[in-house]
Amino acid sequence: MCGIVGYTGPREAYPLIIKGLKRLEYRGYDSTGVALLNGGLKVHKKKGKVADLEESLVGVNVHAHTGIGHTRWATHGEPSDRNAHPHASASGKLAMIHNGIIENYTQLKGELIKKGYTFKSDTDTEVLLNFIEEIKSNNNCNLEEAVRIALKRVVGAYVILLLDQDDPDTIIAARKGSPLVIGIGKGEHFLGSDASPMLEYTKEVVYVNDYELAIVRPDELILKNLGNEKLTPYVQKLDLELAAIEKGGYEHFMLKEIFEQPQTVYDCLRGRLDAASNTVIMSGVQKHIDALKNAPRVIIVACGTSWHAGLLAEYVIEELCRIPVEVEYASEFRYRNPVINKGDVIIAISQSGETADTLVAIERAKEQGAIIFGVVNVVGSSIARISTTGSYTHAGPEIGVASTKAFTAQLAVLYMIALKIGVEKGTLDQSLFNKLFNELNAIPDKIAEALKQSEHIKKVAEKYKDAKDFLYLGRGYNFPIALEGALKLKEISYIHAEGYPAAEMKHGPIALVDDQLPVVFVATKDSYHEKIVSNIQEIKARKGKVIAVITEGDELIKSMADDVIEVPEAHEIVAPMLSTIPMQLLAYYIGVVKGLDVDKPRNLAKSVTVE
Ligand code: M6R
Repeated sequence: MCGIVGYTGPREAYPLIIKGLKRLEYRGYDSTGVALLNGGLKVHKKKGKVADLEESLVGVNVHAHTGIGHTRWATHGEPSDRNAHPHASASGKLAMIHNGIIENYTQLKGELIKKGYTFKSDTDTEVLLNFIEEIKSNNNCNLEEAVRIALKRVVGAYVILLLDQDDPDTIIAARKGSPLVIGIGKGEHFLGSDASPMLEYTKEVVYVNDYELAIVRPDELILKNLGNEKLTPYVQKLDLELAAIEKGGYEHFMLKEIFEQPQTVYDCLRGRLDAASNTVIMSGVQKHIDALKNAPRVIIVACGTSWHAGLLAEYVIEELCRIPVEVEYASEFRYRNPVINKGDVIIAISQSGETADTLVAIERAKEQGAIIFGVVNVVGSSIARISTTGSYTHAGPEIGVASTKAFTAQLAVLYMIALKIGVEKGTLDQSLFNKLFNELNAIPDKIAEALKQSEHIKKVAEKYKDAKDFLYLGRGYNFPIALEGALKLKEISYIHAEGYPAAEMKHGPIALVDDQLPVVFVATKDSYHEKIVSNIQEIKARKGKVIAVITEGDELIKSMADDVIEVPEAHEIVAPMLSTIPMQLLAYYIGVVKGLDVDKPRNLAKSVTVE
């Protein structure tokens, strides 16, 4: 993870870098630093958030036209001033920031120690920087050449940006496995982990690929591969407005993103659920429809919330398309020796499109000949680019670390894929297709209705905020929502929570139930309604506190539960898009009433670009 920003051009670099880092804090926020070229190299860094660095530099001369900045999510070495990036080389002439992990840094460090190097930090980054400096002085070459030679020895993932005080308006950048975008201005260039730091200055960007190296000057961008061959930069136009990455009057990004869902789901469905032809139009599916409908098996790989979307997709695809589906944690899948048979289709789900485990998992599967279908939010991201085909979720930038609107957009896309394959394959009859088509069309308005419970959910949050543990239970299509609810609560409120299939509770977790334990039932009306009513009774009989998410007007559960949160009625297959809304709001408000930083929960980062 970590966020990186760079600038070279006529503007003041420091304020631009600070503003960019604030937008990238979702990627990590345990320490921050900048390196500026101004008649010499100046490095300023500090443990804490970007605002802490900014405050410490009030009154300090930070004038410069070229600089780099970093916001960190620690991998090697605890969060501290000395482990913060940028790191300066032994000579003090080079500075570097890094996003990723250098796996063979111990070996490189050993070699450098034998040559007399000492280190000020515990980071792999300082090792790589000094390794580059050592090569530069041994080979008497320029920085670009030294970086190229060094990277041939490096095992791991990186985006690095380097400054050399002897080459005062140049930034050297290289990428493998972590994202890097270069923005092209008039006589200036911007660098970032994503495009957010450069949005107000340019819409023209180049996504740097793995094993590429960029030499960036105010009026020049040279792109090369590690073999020193020049490449033609592929310039793309950004379709993203500044307003989309600002809070827009909400107290937190998470709340803004929760409330955006009627619109983001609508945007996701728009143009795909075609009312005129009563069909689902998805070019990514259409192009590979034969492979998809004849797939002997679908394997879904993802992490975290995206994995929960995948789990729900398993239920839906098996039901509507009659294709066996397996849902895999990408981090496990990549290290197993999975059996991938001819014709198997891999669906990779990722908001960021940069999650390292998901990325490597699909690389492995692709090597074995599988078709990769990407369900990705960030346009142009690594997973989107490596996928054979796919569909974007079009949820817009998600800044809050806890995933909310990206999840409902993933569900919307996955439902549409299942509808399309099911109808083409003939496993989904026209009347159920029509029903689900209309139900999906109605979902954005129903989400807006569900959001009206916000104030009520805030009161429920206040009532249960001091609980030490929560249990989340659901059955069938609502089981993945129980898991997602528990994950949201853990992330945002630091309260231990477990999600379970409601019936499985009797096989262990029921031992936890006493009058202190809140149990959240995701219990909208579906084919398992009577069963979940029995499960609620089992909890009540043991004095547990029941918070039930129910379909509007469900008087039976209302009479049993301690608290209920109502959502509009919907077909059981699409109802999870509604039952997940109270899960998000409950976690959000518990975090808020506990006074926690819900947009930047401790120890987390938005995109996990390290394994
Ligand atoms: O960007 P991705 O969807 O690949 O990210 C996967 C997980 O890291 C992510 O969903 C994580 O679990 C979120 N913090 C959940 O809120």
